[in-house]
Amino acid sequence: MKAYLNRRYRFSASHRLHSEQMSDAENQSTYGKCNNPHGHGHNYTLEVTVAGDVDSKTGMVLDIKDLKQLVEDEVLQSMDHRFLNKEVPVFSSTLPTTENIAVEIWKRLAQKLPNGKLHRIRLYETPDLYVDYFGEA
Ligand code: NI
Repeated sequence: MKAYLNRRYRFSASHRLHSEQMSDAENQSTYGKCNNPHGHGHNYTLEVTVAGDVDSKTGMVLDIKDLKQLVEDEVLQSMDHRFLNKEVPVFSSTLPTTENIAVEIWKRLAQKLPNGKLHRIRLYETPDLYVDYFGEA
């Protein structure tokens, strides 16, 4: 009996989107406010979905306390209230777009969870804009 367990987390972070492969004008028109030279902030909402059989003993897919601790250790401690470009090493060379942040969060959680347990990372940059990432097939 397979079920999907979802947990929502919130964090705030600032970033700057500026691609070296585009001119200043192209960057400005592509990224708008996110291209501001001094960065700007977002209130992100992260949804983590884990999938699996419902354990016959606990009645759960995964102990939600363990997931909370994992997200705290692997994501929130290093990203919450940080300037992502400078304080999260991967984003010194990869643009901290919603897409790339979702992929990075997937990588961090997937390597600490049992194989196949992580189902989806959904990351909201605004209430109306979000990215889903399901890992590589
Ligand atoms: Ni932005």
